[in-house]
Amino acid sequence: MPGLDIVEDGFRLDGEPFRIISGGIHYFRIHPDQWADRLRKARLMGLNTVETYVPWNLHAPRRGEFRTNGILDLTRFLELAAAEGLRVLVRPGPYICAEWEGGGLPSWLLAQEGIAMRSCDPVFLAAVEEYFDALLPLISPHLGSRGGPVLAVQVENEYGAYGSDTDYLKHIAKLLRDGGVDVPLFTCDQPADLARGGLDGVLRTVNFGSRVDAGLAALREIQPTGPLMCSEFWIGWFDRWGAVHKGRSTQDAAADLDRLLAAGASVNIYMFHGGTNFGFSNGANDKGTYRPTVTSYDYDAPLDEAGDPAAKYAAFREVIARYAPVPDEPIPAPGSKLAPVRVPLTESAGLFEHAELFGSGVEASRPLSMEEIGQSFGFVLYRASLPDAGPAVLRVEDVRDRAQVFIDGQPVGVLERENHEHAMSFVAPRAGAVLELLVENLGRVNYGQGIHDRKGLIGDVTVNGAALDTWITTALPLEESGWESGLRFSASAARVGPAFHRGEFEIDEPADAFLATDGWTKGHVWINGFALGRYWSRGPQATLYVPAPVLRSGRNELVVLELHGSATNAVELRGSSDLGITEE
Ligand code: GLA
Repeated sequence: MPGLDIVEDGFRLDGEPFRIISGGIHYFRIHPDQWADRLRKARLMGLNTVETYVPWNLHAPRRGEFRTNGILDLTRFLELAAAEGLRVLVRPGPYICAEWEGGGLPSWLLAQEGIAMRSCDPVFLAAVEEYFDALLPLISPHLGSRGGPVLAVQVENEYGAYGSDTDYLKHIAKLLRDGGVDVPLFTCDQPADLARGGLDGVLRTVNFGSRVDAGLAALREIQPTGPLMCSEFWIGWFDRWGAVHKGRSTQDAAADLDRLLAAGASVNIYMFHGGTNFGFSNGANDKGTYRPTVTSYDYDAPLDEAGDPAAKYAAFREVIARYAPVPDEPIPAPGSKLAPVRVPLTESAGLFEHAELFGSGVEASRPLSMEEIGQSFGFVLYRASLPDAGPAVLRVEDVRDRAQVFIDGQPVGVLERENHEHAMSFVAPRAGAVLELLVENLGRVNYGQGIHDRKGLIGDVTVNGAALDTWITTALPLEESGWESGLRFSASAARVGPAFHRGEFEIDEPADAFLATDGWTKGHVWINGFALGRYWSRGPQATLYVPAPVLRSGRNELVVLELHGSATNAVELRGSSDLGITEE
C-alpha cells in the first residue's frame, strides 16, 4: 500500500526511509485566496509536510449542518497542498485546543445540561460520530494509502493533559478507523502526560518548545522503538488581551530545531504560519483567571500574519538544509502593502435600536444563557425592569465574559469576568427603570476543565438581594452576515454607546493592509462584510490584519461596532502592523 508506514527505526514513505519536516498552517485562519501562496512558501522553506487542525465548531455551527464553503473548503486545501508536492497531517480533534473558540467543540453541545466533553458520555460521543460521518468522507479520498497527501491523522489532542479515560481515546481511534482512515494514527502530548494521553497500537508523539533532549528522552522511554516525532515544536507563542506581545528569539528557536533534527526526529513546527482569529473565533485560557486570546495568531512564526517571511524563515531554512534537500529558490519577497488610507466613518446606527434585526427576545423568569437560546458567538442583551427607585446593588453570579450595564439607556459600568467582578452599584432614577446588560462572549476557554464554558449571565442575578422575575434575553449573533443591510445609518446619530459606524473608501488595487483603531475603545470591524475580528485599546495588538482579497478595486465599505465610544471618527489602513509592546 502506498503512503506512510511506521517501522522500528522510523517512518517509511512508499517504502523509502522518510523524515517528516512539517509546519502548522490552519486553513481556517487564512483567507482561502491566500492558501496557495502560503503553501508554496512552506515548500520553499524546506518543509515536505504541513499540519492542520479541523475546527468542528466552525464547520458545524448548528447540529446537523456541515459547512465546507470558502474558508472551510478543506478538500480544496488538501488539493492545493498536494499540487505543491506537500504531504499533510490532519488533526480533526474532536477537541483541538489551538487557542480556538472552545477548542473547536461546538457550543451547541453545552446546551445539553450535564454533558461531559472529551469523555465516553454517550451524548458527547453521538455528536462526535455525526461530526466524523460528515468529515471523514471528505478526507478519505486524500489519504496517503490512496495516493493522496494525507500522511497520518491525529487522535484527539493532548488528551493526557485533560483526562485518563483510555476507553474514550480508543473510541475516537475506532471511529476514525471505521470511517475509513487507514493511514497511521498518532497522539501527541507534553512529556509529563505521555503515559495518560497515549494508546497502545497508536504512534505516540511529543510536544515541546525547548529542552529538546529531555522531551525526546521522555518519548523514547514510553515508546522504545519507532519514529521519534515532535508534533508541536513551539517556535513562538500566542498573545492575550492586556499582556505584552510574546515572541521567541530566532537564534534560540533555530538552535533547538537543529537539535531536534540532529537527533533524527521528525518535526511539526508550531506554527509555520499562524494567521488570524477572524470574526469571533479566538479562544481563551483559564487557570483561575479567564484570559482571552487576541485576534492575531501571528505566533512569531517564520511566515508572519500577512504571509511575509520573518527572520525565522531564513534561519529555519538554513537549519533544514543541513538535513534535507531545500528548493534552490530565493526567499520569497514580502507582499505589496496598501498606501495609507484614512477612512472617515460618517454615519452611525445604535446597536440597541437594531436589536430586533437579530430576532425577538425570549421572556423567562431568569436570564437565559447563550447556549439556552441556541446562540454560539457574539453578544446577548438582557433586559429587566427595576422595581424601585434609589440606590441599588446589582449582583451577578457569573458574567461570561464582559457585561456593559445600562440604566434607562445610560451606561453605568462594566463587569469583567477577567477581573473576577460580580457586583456594582448605581442609583435607579425611578421605579420601573430599564436595566440592560450587554454581555460579550470573548471566546470560550480552549484548555483544561474550563472548556465547559457557557456564555451570557450564568447563575443568580439579584438587585438589592432579590431576584428579578421577568427577563428578556435577546441574541445578537453578529457572526452571520446579512444583518448589515438592515442597519438604519444616519449622519446625526449619537457617537456614544454601543453603535455601528460606517464609512467608505476607494483604492486602486487591493493589497494587504493593517487597520489601526487608535482612539477607539473596544469592538469589531467588518470590511465589505468580512469580519476582521476584535480590537481593544488595552492591547497589545493595535492593528488588525486586512487580507488583500477582502478589498476591491474602487469603492469599499468599512463598518465598526464600537461598544463604548471613540475619540475620533476615522480609522486608518496602513502598510505595517503593530502587535504591541514586547516588554512591560
Ligand atoms: C498545546 C495545544 C495546541 C496549542 C498550543 C499552544 O500544545 O496542543 O493546540 O494550544 O498548546 O499554542
